[in-house]
Amino acid sequence: MTKSFLTYFLLWNIIQLIIKGSCQPYYQFYPLKRHDHTATIIDNKLYILGGSGYSGDHEFFYLDVSNKIDTQHLSWIDLSNINIVPSHYGATSVVGGANNNTLFLYGVYNSAMTLVYTFDPIFKTWDIPTITGDNTIRKQFLTGIIARNGKMYLFGKTLPTGLIINDYTIDMDMLILDTINLNWGKGSLYNAPTGRGDYGATLLPNQIILYIGRFDIKEESAFRRVYLYDTFDDSWSKKITSGNIVPSNRDYFSLVLGLDGRSVIMFGGRGETDLPSSDALYVLDTINFNWYIPNVTGNIPRPRFWHKANIMDNYMLVSFGCCYKKSHESDILLLDISNNRGFKWVTQN
Ligand SMILES: *[C@@H]1O[C@H](CO)[C@@H](O)[C@H](O)[C@H]1NC(C)=O
Ligand SMILES: *[C@@H]1O[C@H](CO)[C@@H](O)[C@H](O)[C@H]1NC(C)=O
Repeated sequence: MTKSFLTYFLLWNIIQLIIKGSCQPYYQFYPLKRHDHTATIIDNKLYILGGSGYSGDHEFFYLDVSNKIDTQHLSWIDLSNINIVPSHYGATSVVGGANNNTLFLYGVYNSAMTLVYTFDPIFKTWDIPTITGDNTIRKQFLTGIIARNGKMYLFGKTLPTGLIINDYTIDMDMLILDTINLNWGKGSLYNAPTGRGDYGATLLPNQIILYIGRFDIKEESAFRRVYLYDTFDDSWSKKITSGNIVPSNRDYFSLVLGLDGRSVIMFGGRGETDLPSSDALYVLDTINFNWYIPNVTGNIPRPRFWHKANIMDNYMLVSFGCCYKKSHESDILLLDISNNRGFKWVTQN
């Protein structure tokens, strides 16, 4: 009798503890500002890591994008306590691996960093994978692209030591990380663009990677030339765009593939002077290689640079970057791109 009473008593208290625990006011995490972070969507969660500028660079957190988003009230979830990646900025990330569900992080010029880290979103663990093949090449400020073959393409400047930002004579490399078999390879450089970083890149449905910019900002109509890398036959080609419209020269912009699989959307960037809003959004039609300025409504935000852009359902989701005022604009911007005849900036999806 006493014994079973004691059991009930204990059980009751445990249940009370559990109920109280889950009803306690939820601790709201407010991330610091950042730019040159990575933004990766896995299983409807937008994971943000690293970045620079405001000492928030050890933070690791996510936003559940399967819920409705209100950019004025973002419910970030903090995972910084499980982060093993040293503070960094200018790395790049993709989703790959045998189960196509692992975050792969590559970069940067920081000897404290291992070249590659992986994050498993199910077990919520970071790891340092063992990768075969010889590679010690470090790069920064590049865009890694993963193709359907599970290979991560890492095109960009190769700097053996130190960081020289504006040297366009430096050698390029097309590093290839097979995220399924975990080995390093290298792609062709024949007909590849010359030395650059801070370009924009996106994978087209035919498994060709489109590379745009960064050119010397003084070069005229730099965006008339775009480069294509075919992941099937490891070959480069060049296209000259048609039409009268060419985006003004800029770097640190974002590039995503639109929902139709043919429109490539460029947002923001840093020009020689601040870009006006009318010069912030362009579309490249990759069927006829024609640039155009899309119709856009809603509250047009200030153009950003050093931000990231991801596709989430019908939206282009822009995260963080430079240089907006937190009191005026959210860390997250949403552009409804479901209708090619007119895009719309919204604050809720
Ligand atoms: C991985 O998942 C993405 C998104 O669902 C898909 O587009 C891609 O084709 C998949 N890759 C592989 C190798 O299955
Ligand atoms: C923008 O809207 C106008 C008026 O609806 C339309 O004529 C034009 O084709 C649209 N432009 C683009 C690029 O979709």
